[in-house]
Amino acid sequence: MEKTETKDSNIDDISFLEGVGIETNGKASAYLVTFTPYFRNVARREITDFDSSIKFERPISDSIALVTSAKPNEEFIEEMKKESPIFIKHIMPIMGAGEIEGILDKDKVSLLEAVDQIANIKTGSKFAVQCRVISGGLPYSAKDIEVYVGEAYYNKGNIPSFSDRDIINEDIDIISILVHGKTYYVGFSKSSDNLNFHSDEHRIRARAGKREISRAESKLIEALSTFKVELDGHGTALDLGAAPGGWSKVLADYGYKVLAVDPAALHPDLEQDSRIIHMKSKAQDIQLDEPLDLIVNDMNMDPQETGKIMNDIAHLLKDGGLAIVTLKLPDHAQRSIEEAVAILEKEYEVVKIRSLFHNRQEVTALLQRKTK
Ligand SMILES: C[S@@+](CC[C@H](N)C(=O)[O-])C[C@H]1O[C@@H](n2cnc3c(N)ncnc32)[C@H](O)[C@@H]1O
Repeated sequence: MEKTETKDSNIDDISFLEGVGIETNGKASAYLVTFTPYFRNVARREITDFDSSIKFERPISDSIALVTSAKPNEEFIEEMKKESPIFIKHIMPIMGAGEIEGILDKDKVSLLEAVDQIANIKTGSKFAVQCRVISGGLPYSAKDIEVYVGEAYYNKGNIPSFSDRDIINEDIDIISILVHGKTYYVGFSKSSDNLNFHSDEHRIRARAGKREISRAESKLIEALSTFKVELDGHGTALDLGAAPGGWSKVLADYGYKVLAVDPAALHPDLEQDSRIIHMKSKAQDIQLDEPLDLIVNDMNMDPQETGKIMNDIAHLLKDGGLAIVTLKLPDHAQRSIEEAVAILEKEYEVVKIRSLFHNRQEVTALLQRKTK
């Protein structure tokens, strides 16, 4: 295996990337950025809007690109976090790169060596290894690498974390590895600097398991994690566009009484569930006077329409109560979001908007009812 030079945690010299064919003149840091293919252009605009020195150097897949910046890593990450991007779903710093051979026994050793040069985990602290293998053909999987590297750091006295909760709430050390064809990239960062607790949407999805009512169930779970929302499960939750009932089930499992609004049928198991009251009508037609502790809305409507419906029921939501809403963005994504925000801001603080791994042509917003 050919190995190029890597730098010790100071990543503001990325000349090692020359070894894998990337010109780095005048550039100080490099990243692998992940976005939804549908939002590729808007993600590109979003990142260049806050850092005009960003250069898209190499597509890795339809949802990952290698970018370089003239800004040093710390400055870039600080600004990015301040901007709170909507369409960039994940960022991995590139601190080392080189070539693999395609033989597990050799590659796992080389990748561990590359990681050893950049990882700086305090003894006894928690860490996670996140590996992605892009474009098949390798006789091993990302998991094989994660297990090997993870065991090595476990044997050094560190604590491997397999819990999304740890990664989200404790800001733990993340060792990131991406193998693209014969090229590997490695990075080391705090989980909060990566914008998302995991780099790999397929892995997030796979975790949801088979007991789901709908794929949407894990979309709500991802939204709660990404927005760091801890639901207390007290009181009544309104679920607009509830069928077949994935979100209603998640909320009922938290302990809420759920008012599930949808003209379509819920999953038969849920129609029998006493925790869920199915209101078989359109959201525009419901007459409610029950105070609400939480509103969720996955109706898949255009943002302006969603904004109006959300505002009409806002008076029922307790002061400071939360709402989680998906906004469908068929085109003009940024403008549509701005229009929706302008409407929603009459009644809510728009806390955050993110393109989640489970979102396709939509984004998910976290709202908080303004206190009167
Ligand atoms: C993406 S699905 C929701 C999936 C759901 N969150 C789950 O977890 O199973 C969108 C739902 O919104 C419903 N819907 C669309 N327009 C609606 C409206 N005006 N009022 C109520 N529900 C609506 C559709 O019938 C559809 O079942």
